Amino acid sequence: MFRRFRRRRLNPTLREMVQENRVRVEDFIYPLFVRSGEGIKNEVASMPDVFQMSIDAAIEECGELKKLGIYSIILFGIPALKDSVGSDALCDHGIIARAIKAIKAAHPDMFVVSDLCFCEYTDHGHCGVMNPVEQSVDNDITLQNSIAQALVHAKAGVDMIAPSGMMDGIIATLRQGLDEAGYVNLPIMSYSTKFASAYYGPFRDVAESMPSYGDRKSYQMNPANGREALHESLTDEEEGADILMVKPALAYLDVVKDIKDNTHLPLAVYNVSGEYAMLKLAGKMGLVDYDRVLMETMTSFKRAGADIIISYHAKEVARLLGR
Ligand code: PBG
Ligand code: ZN
Repeated sequence: MFRRFRRRRLNPTLREMVQENRVRVEDFIYPLFVRSGEGIKNEVASMPDVFQMSIDAAIEECGELKKLGIYSIILFGIPALKDSVGSDALCDHGIIARAIKAIKAAHPDMFVVSDLCFCEYTDHGHCGVMNPVEQSVDNDITLQNSIAQALVHAKAGVDMIAPSGMMDGIIATLRQGLDEAGYVNLPIMSYSTKFASAYYGPFRDVAESMPSYGDRKSYQMNPANGREALHESLTDEEEGADILMVKPALAYLDVVKDIKDNTHLPLAVYNVSGEYAMLKLAGKMGLVDYDRVLMETMTSFKRAGADIIISYHAKEVARLLGR
């Protein structure tokens, strides 16, 4: 006697019925890169089909997204001018503030998430203010500047804030800052477990945020550390995060599962630029069946425990889901 698994696999209707995990278009957040100017839609060489857009183009893009059933975006700003503190992110007429305002005005039903960091806005490309003695980002000064940036996003009408700089205490600090300013109902999605990954390479081309010297290893996590990965996310839960995140996704699905099993919060994965570029190029070269590998990959995120998927593939997934 032995168990016959295959009798559940022979009939397609039954196979569908017993499928454990499903990808839905509602699971996705689509990243948008906004820069100043008008009528601009620049494709970036390292990320086919991903564009830097001026605000008018981004507004048009949101219309396309809604037609596909995608009602959630995460915004990255590319400022005209960078300086040592990232001032453009701290004023109400900077690129990110203007983008949030304009997109919400044109598309009130679009759920707009803002990436809160400084690396796109600083001339040195690091995720905060540099401390010359430590030769690294000054944690506590960056926390104070982050409150200021969060309030800029909040005033502009953002729907959720996503701090991505990996500063210690960022969630407690932002929660308190937002609450004191009256934004008690503005959720925070923390980039709670973010690794110092080489998979971010293409993003830094798009966002023009490559550090001009050094690397991010003194604030982003060591890819070898699984227990610390859980600890960081659970700490953000304690500090008041509303949603946790693991980034990158594909090489860290063990971490996704581990966090999911240990938190009561919803969990997002960020399917990052390098993951996107690898699959895209393999598909273009005809090395794999692109559509099938894409859906297999997205399904693996759900199986590991992701509730939300931030992905440059969102529009392609929506089409494959029949939108
Ligand atoms: C900014 C930020 C990064 C990404 C999202 N927010 C880059 C980085 O940490 O260098 C990466 C996204 C991607 O690779 O798709 N801190
Ligand atoms: Zn950053």
